[in-house]
Amino acid sequence: MTELVIDVKDVRYLYPDGFMALDGVNIRVSKRERVAILGSNGAGKSTLLMLVDGLFKPSKGSVKVLGMPTCDKNFHEIRSRIGFVFQDPDDQLFCSTLWDDMTFGLLNMGICDDEVVRKAKDDLRIVGLEGYEEKSPHHLSVGEKKKATIAIVLAMKPDVLILDEPTANLDPKSRVELIRLINNLHERGEITIIVATHDVDFVPMVADRAYVLNKGKVLAEGYLEDVFSNFKIMEEAGLEPPTITRLFKLLNQSIGREVTQPLPLTVERALYEIRQYLVLRSK
Ligand SMILES: Nc1ncnc2c1ncn2[C@@H]1O[C@H](COP(=O)(O)OP(=O)(O)OP(=O)(O)O)[C@@H](O)[C@H]1O
Ligand SMILES: [Mg+2]
Repeated sequence: MTELVIDVKDVRYLYPDGFMALDGVNIRVSKRERVAILGSNGAGKSTLLMLVDGLFKPSKGSVKVLGMPTCDKNFHEIRSRIGFVFQDPDDQLFCSTLWDDMTFGLLNMGICDDEVVRKAKDDLRIVGLEGYEEKSPHHLSVGEKKKATIAIVLAMKPDVLILDEPTANLDPKSRVELIRLINNLHERGEITIIVATHDVDFVPMVADRAYVLNKGKVLAEGYLEDVFSNFKIMEEAGLEPPTITRLFKLLNQSIGREVTQPLPLTVERALYEIRQYLVLRSK
């Protein structure tokens, strides 16, 4: 049986000013799943992730992570097993050098000095920040800060990796590297991946299933092919399907028949479908 890693049940969350950011939200994620939380600005994505990480407590309903309710008793254990890359890197970088930020969490986990140095160096190299160790995190560019927080979180070897808008401010090369990094991690281990974003072209590269949030409620959920083929839901959520999906929808309409169904979500899949179509036509 698959192990349930995240179980959000009928959750409501009100901010101290009384604003209801989430209402009636149900999310279930099993071990090793790759799940996207989709939604436009203000939909409630970051609020939901704060609840999953135990930083916020639900006003109503319950949140269980790795089988534990997110109450004070479990706070430290949950936080040590979840790697959370915040939307705003400034919320995560607080030391005077990048090296101190990298090693702070690892030393707190009781890992020996040699291992800390090895892990910190490895992960800085992976995100392309080798040589930046003595720099103040506040002097890094916005994209570099994002990469730094990803390196810090990776070094902790989390069971669940949560990324809030990970592609914001990344250049195309860094974006491709991030996709490769996430997928390598997933292929190599038991890690569960949750990505909150409105970057719909990125989602098919790193997720298989999605929840669509809109004004604090779950508007739709399902496999990406189904969610992104539902243009009505996408519009209601203030989103658009991936560019390639929109292109194929127009292509199907313009030639009056379906080149492919379900609609492709990635360039690679689109290429495959076009080739199949051309082969069939040439017979
Ligand atoms: N501290 C706060 N007090 C009151 N309302 C808040 C607070 N933080 C967020 N909100 C409101 O809660 C709603 C959800 O915010 P949230 O940050 O979760 O959205 P989001 O989906 O992550 O958006 P984005 O794509 O812009 O990051 C928004 O309407 C926001 O204005
Ligand atoms: Mg957000």
